[in-house]
Amino acid sequence: MNVNSANLNHTRKPKIFNQPERFIEGWYWVIPSKKLRVGEVKPVTILGRELVIYRGEDKQAVILDAYCPHFGAHLGEGTVEGNEIRCFFHHWKFDSEGFCVEIPCLEEPVKVKAKSWPTAEQYGLIWVWTGETPQQPLPFIPELEMEESDSALSARFITNCHPNVFMINAIDAQHFNTVHKLLSEFNFEKQELNENAITFTNTTHSTPDYWLMKLIRSFYKKPVNYHLCYWYGMTGMITISLDFLQFHLIFASRLIEAGRAEIMTILMTKKRLGIFGRLHNHLVLWLSKFVAEDFIKDDNKIFQTIQFNLKSPIDLDQPIIQFIDHLERQKALKWGTWYIDRMNDGEVREIEKRPKREKWHDELVND
Ligand code: FES
Ligand SMILES: [Fe+2]
Repeated sequence: MNVNSANLNHTRKPKIFNQPERFIEGWYWVIPSKKLRVGEVKPVTILGRELVIYRGEDKQAVILDAYCPHFGAHLGEGTVEGNEIRCFFHHWKFDSEGFCVEIPCLEEPVKVKAKSWPTAEQYGLIWVWTGETPQQPLPFIPELEMEESDSALSARFITNCHPNVFMINAIDAQHFNTVHKLLSEFNFEKQELNENAITFTNTTHSTPDYWLMKLIRSFYKKPVNYHLCYWYGMTGMITISLDFLQFHLIFASRLIEAGRAEIMTILMTKKRLGIFGRLHNHLVLWLSKFVAEDFIKDDNKIFQTIQFNLKSPIDLDQPIIQFIDHLERQKALKWGTWYIDRMNDGEVREIEKRPKREKWHDELVND
């Protein structure tokens, strides 16, 4: 094996990877769907930006900037009326796009708008797009792209390292053998799915020294496929495939204060109908929970203390360098403001506002 292989281009300091002030414009999870009932409004802080989320009578989740564009009262103190929200302070009312639609002391509302953000709901979670218009669908597992699926939320936890550092654990070939004692061969092949998603595939013919695999190997001799798909460097989707069974795990993370990661685990499987189909899926999701727990339990102490610095890569570290390169080519926003970062030589030289819409002056008020 070549140490410090010449073709490992890692000399430039990353401007996005593992940076506590930056993240990629994209979809990020907000709260579990069932934590937001019709008529409820809640304050949430996502990637440093203060927001409110509410659900109107039409059952749609709406996300607005937290502070009212009139005096700055927190809209989380307000009330949901129909599909709209009324500020507690002077009772101005805003619709689901943030437009002011009523001011009690005026016949016509003034043209003012609370900043709104695109939302979606899937896998039992509400998601927000951190820009004006979604450029991608919600993160999906390529193997299940055309399928309906069943999913369940599992462990939610915080790590002391950046989400990017947590994510690369799943393509860190060496540690599978040293930490997890899998004693298997890893040779990842990467493929860029689109600007924001990258996949890594490994096929193994050997028998990893892992309780579940040993059990399966007692009757299953064909290759086992291990597939990763990363979205925005913060949501990692893992598929372990055998002919007759697939485990799908999603680790959806987001960057919180001090460059740490808050992570939601989602278990998934292809939808199966009928009583046996449902029983099968319950069993697969139950087993997936143990696979997900095993995936992270032995790494935990690493995530608490690591100061990531890839100083001496070897060939086996190549997927990590490919992950970093992929991330560095994406559109970065600044943590807290969600403004676009203009970066030059690793420094933030200019912070640019999103393009203003003509008619409404929400950006002037809120941003
Ligand atoms: S601060 Fe919201 S209506 Fe005045
Ligand atoms: Fe690990």
